[in-house]
Amino acid sequence: MSGNEIRQKYLAFMEKHGHAVIPSAALVPENDPTTLFTGSGMQPLVPYLMGEAHPKGARLADSQKCFRAEDIEEVGDNRHTTFFEMLGNWSLGDYFKAEQLPWFYTFLVEEVGLDPEKIYVTVFQGDEDANVPRDEESVAIWKELFAARGVSDGVAEMGSEEAGGVRGMQDGERIFYYDASKNWWSRAGKPENMPVGEIGGPDSEVFYDFGTEHDPAFGENCHPNCDCGRFLEIGNSVFMEYLKTEAGFEKLPTQNVDFGGGLERITAAANGDADVFTIDLLWPVIEQIEELSGSQYADNHEAFRVITDHIRGAVFMIGDSVLPSNAEQGYFVRRLLRRAVRYADALGIPAGEFPNLAESVIATYEAHYANLTMQRDTVKTAIAGEEEQFRKTLEKGLREFNKTLSVLTQWEGDAEANNQGTFMPPESIFKLITTHGFPRELVAEEAVKRGITLDDRTWTAVDALLAEHQEKSRAGAEQKFKGGLADQSEKVVEYHTTTHLMLAALRHFLGEHVHQAGSNITGERLRFDFTHPEKVERETLDEIETWVNNAIATGGDVTIETMAKSVAENDPTVEGSFWDRYPDEVKVYTITGKDGTIFSRELCGGPHVSKLEDIKGRFVIKKEESSSAGVRRIKAVLATD
Ligand code: SER
Repeated sequence: MSGNEIRQKYLAFMEKHGHAVIPSAALVPENDPTTLFTGSGMQPLVPYLMGEAHPKGARLADSQKCFRAEDIEEVGDNRHTTFFEMLGNWSLGDYFKAEQLPWFYTFLVEEVGLDPEKIYVTVFQGDEDANVPRDEESVAIWKELFAARGVSDGVAEMGSEEAGGVRGMQDGERIFYYDASKNWWSRAGKPENMPVGEIGGPDSEVFYDFGTEHDPAFGENCHPNCDCGRFLEIGNSVFMEYLKTEAGFEKLPTQNVDFGGGLERITAAANGDADVFTIDLLWPVIEQIEELSGSQYADNHEAFRVITDHIRGAVFMIGDSVLPSNAEQGYFVRRLLRRAVRYADALGIPAGEFPNLAESVIATYEAHYANLTMQRDTVKTAIAGEEEQFRKTLEKGLREFNKTLSVLTQWEGDAEANNQGTFMPPESIFKLITTHGFPRELVAEEAVKRGITLDDRTWTAVDALLAEHQEKSRAGAEQKFKGGLADQSEKVVEYHTTTHLMLAALRHFLGEHVHQAGSNITGERLRFDFTHPEKVERETLDEIETWVNNAIATGGDVTIETMAKSVAENDPTVEGSFWDRYPDEVKVYTITGKDGTIFSRELCGGPHVSKLEDIKGRFVIKKEESSSAGVRRIKAVLATD
């Protein structure tokens, strides 16, 4: 069965059970500056899981594009990928365990056709410290489901992953209790790692048994959470009903379900082959690489998988308008393509073939992801450009490398250096890597080719230089957009105060559901994301403009109060978002007209103008558009013409 088919079946199945099918959000979250990429299906839905009403209702389903940058180096085994699709369904205070578990199980058995004998499940054993009970309710539901299919339903206590490896599993066992490191889900992981304000809950995971032999390198005995490859997690139903507070865990106002299942993994299970690269969504690229390289996949698993994964990741990223660059998300696209070039070279794939591999990815996915059809040319051109540019960098890097060597050969008479085996000073290597973009592995390889030893001491010194360099650029990036401001120049500050007035006007004309979801201000314009389910009509935008311009025209004052965060948070006249990013002591900015009318009161780090007459120009909304699901974006200027 194909991945495209399973995606369709899942969405249709969920639709049949009353879910609104929503489109995948972009890979780059628009309203969540805490993370670079969308890494799970629930991420774009956090505001709704926390209680906000979703315009499409209380039952939602989708197939969300996800990217996990932290897995780049892991790619190469049979299941890690950077990009993947997560099938997801959500209950926003609607159904709970009694519906969720039977639905997913029925989907797997009846729609995907998995053998019930090969399906195993895990449940949460409870956590006294967090005051969360054992999930006996899920166990009862699973037992009933298994009995109805005539398969064993034995329950086992596993505890931690390690304990599970010692105990192993006995015949007839199918339901396994694990601790919070395995059966608790939040964006921050275990209960004790969650910051105050974060939501999470116990979960129940489903595993597919590929029946391969246990590899003792992963523990004495096999069990569902063992990493030897026999079991693959194919779905996770999170019962999101807890909020972490200062005092411990509190129940959220509603019981939510957050389900996520890897599309590639479910497809691999359907095909009975644990290698996700053999499914229809990835195999065409593997076949193409076989043809281009004249090598077999079976003999070169790692290189084939890296190239395939990285090209697919780059296609989806560029399809979401993230072009290769040195900054932020773009850096990862660059890294994917550059790593792919290195592996492609090792396999002897001719230069210039990447756009053809990209074409095959697009052809596989475009029926579901129309943006890929629309962006086809951009994607292929950007990939071709990056491949070419990187090849030039490599050539130049090699020349620099040789230049460095011609200097270094003079050292050959230096007995001490010889003894230490350090022919190349760490500073030169650091420069090759940072200034000339010559990859570190290539430095090592080229050195070996020339009989030069680069010992551990050299690399430790290079790493220290690189770490220092990274620290500096990170600090630079943090400075760059502090509080959404490009800098603190006069014009940026004028725009910042105007943004507060605009948010107040949006709330005045559209309603109290409007909150800030993101902000990015330069000296030329403001860009503001806010929670609102639909397009704002031009007439309303005009009214908002007038309201803001009238407020500015009063020439009123901006005042600052400092107060405890808990006080501000509980004051209904104070508007604020991202409370968790503020310290315990916060600033509230109030904008008041000359006649005493309060226009705006908002939590903010500043800075602001002190008098509205300092704002120069006429406030004009240039554009209003969708930013992501449930979030709109406004671009506006202070026009001086
Ligand atoms: N949030 C859960 C996960 O990512 C289920 O969607 O696994």
